Parts: sequence; structure tokens; C-alpha cells
Amino acid sequence: MSERAQTAEAGTSDEGRPANPNLAGMGESLKPLIDSVQRSRGLLGPYDVAEHLQARIDEFDLGDAIDHFREHGYAALENVAPPEEMDELREAIHGLAKPKGALGGRGAAYLLGRHPAIDRIATNPKILAFAEVSVGNGLRASQFAASIMGKSDKLVAGGIHADQNWLPAPFPEHNCVITFCIPCDGMTDEEGATRVVPGSHLARRHPTPEESRSETVPIEVAKGGVAVWDGSVWHGTGRRTVDGVRTVLHATYQRLYTQPIDDYTYLLKDEEYIASAPEAMRGLLGERLFFGTAHDDSMVDMAKFTEATIRSKL
Ligand SMILES: [Fe+2]
Repeated sequence: MSERAQTAEAGTSDEGRPANPNLAGMGESLKPLIDSVQRSRGLLGPYDVAEHLQARIDEFDLGDAIDHFREHGYAALENVAPPEEMDELREAIHGLAKPKGALGGRGAAYLLGRHPAIDRIATNPKILAFAEVSVGNGLRASQFAASIMGKSDKLVAGGIHADQNWLPAPFPEHNCVITFCIPCDGMTDEEGATRVVPGSHLARRHPTPEESRSETVPIEVAKGGVAVWDGSVWHGTGRRTVDGVRTVLHATYQRLYTQPIDDYTYLLKDEEYIASAPEAMRGLLGERLFFGTAHDDSMVDMAKFTEATIRSKL
């Protein structure tokens, strides 16, 4: 990074207005974020709620869930979406699960931009507010995949693991990956609820082979609710022991600077899609990120870079 870029900061005048010329034209929309960075002096700690976000956390009554998440590495969020939205989501997933698809009829992959019900839950304000506490402002859509689990299905992929399993240990104190498990009909232990090792995120490392056989507890949620876990917490697939199927959307978000699993950048180039997509989708797809913006006459898009220096501190 050039010296110029390295020294670019979201400086503000005494009146609190952006002083950095790179923020010209977008200062007003970013002002709450700039103020929020100033309040924490750019040192917001892991799991701390930034000032600009606090009202939404209160509105959605997420305080207790965040406390639980911080202590145990997972949480169950209630009343995230009404039952009819969950029914539409189930229909969408089953419609997209093809016998010759990624999961052989037992799910579907690469799901953003494929169905309005999926995009709606991906941009659900309660989910995004919780995700921001964990993986920061400017978070990116990572992987959106669905699974359909029948009775007594075998485990899909190995044993207990941490989701940020392409990161070396020790994991960063600021979480990089957060996964929301969205069961269209809720999930109990018997219905195949995902299982976690409570508190294992505090180790900030992958489980050893012995630890991958640790005792686990199910994350049970009622219909309309969502299970969520930290990228560091050890967890594994549940097993369904009752009739019927568990239909789940696995929605993963990542911290601004990390490489998402799915590449949805093609959606940003689809003007018709973007025109009708939920407003929050642009940010999730990385529209304002500076990566890859260099040209032969500029090291980087300085407006985008400067915006990232703000968002990365929240
Ligand atoms: Fe996982």
C-alpha cells in the first residue's frame, strides 16, 4: 500500500464533519459511522457493540443473546422472521435442490440472488445487526447453502470443527466468520439441531482429534428463530431421529478484510438484479470495497479505501 494510502484516515473537523477529501460526497451517510469510530477511539473490542449500532440491538432485544454468544460461542435468536417467510424459504430451498446439484438433492449451494425468499432472510435486519457485532461493519456475504436432512441421516462432513477452518490458529480475537443456521420449521434435538461445544471458542483454535469427540449440546430453536455460532466455536451436525426433514439455510458472513467463500460479485454487475435486490445486498456483495480497484494511474480507489478504514474499526 502506498504511503498516501497508508496515511489516509477518516479524519474529521472540529465540527465532526469529514475533513478527508476522499469522503466528499458520501460524508453524510458515513457520519454516524465516523462518530461511532471516534467514540471508541478506533479501538472497539471483540463482541463490543458500536455506538451507532446500539439502538438497533436494543430495538431487536438482542442484548441477552449477545451476552450468551460472547460467553458460550453460540446463541438462539427468537422471532427473526414470521412463519410465512420461513415457509417460503423452505419452498425456495426445495425448489432449488436438484438431484444432480451440489448436494445430490439433499440441499443446494450458491444461493444468493436465486430466490427472493433467500435474499430476504440474507438481509434480515435482526440477523445483520447481530452479525455486525461479531464480524464488524462492512461485513460480506460469504456462503449461502441449504441442507435437507432426513431421519437418521449420516453426518454430512466429518466431526466437530470450527467454521473458520481456513484460518490458522490462534484465531484473531475479532471474529472473522459467523454462521446463522436458519431452520425453516425450527429444530429440536430430535429433529437434528446442530450441536456445539459451549465455550470452545475461547480456545481460539481448531479442536485436536481427541477434542473433536467432545461432549456437545444441541442449539434448539422454535420456528421463526435462528441458531448462530462464532467462527471459533467447535460444533458438528446433529442427527434427526424423527420422521420428516429438517430444511436449513446456512448463512455465513465474514469480516470485511477476509476472503468470502462464495463469489457473488457477478450480481453487482447485473443492473436488473441490483435494482430490485434488498438495499443491504450491495454492501454484502462488497460494492464499496477497495480490493482490486487499482489502475495504471491510481494505486487504489481512495474513496473506497477510506470508507474501509472507517468500517473496519466498527
Ligand atoms: Fe460448520
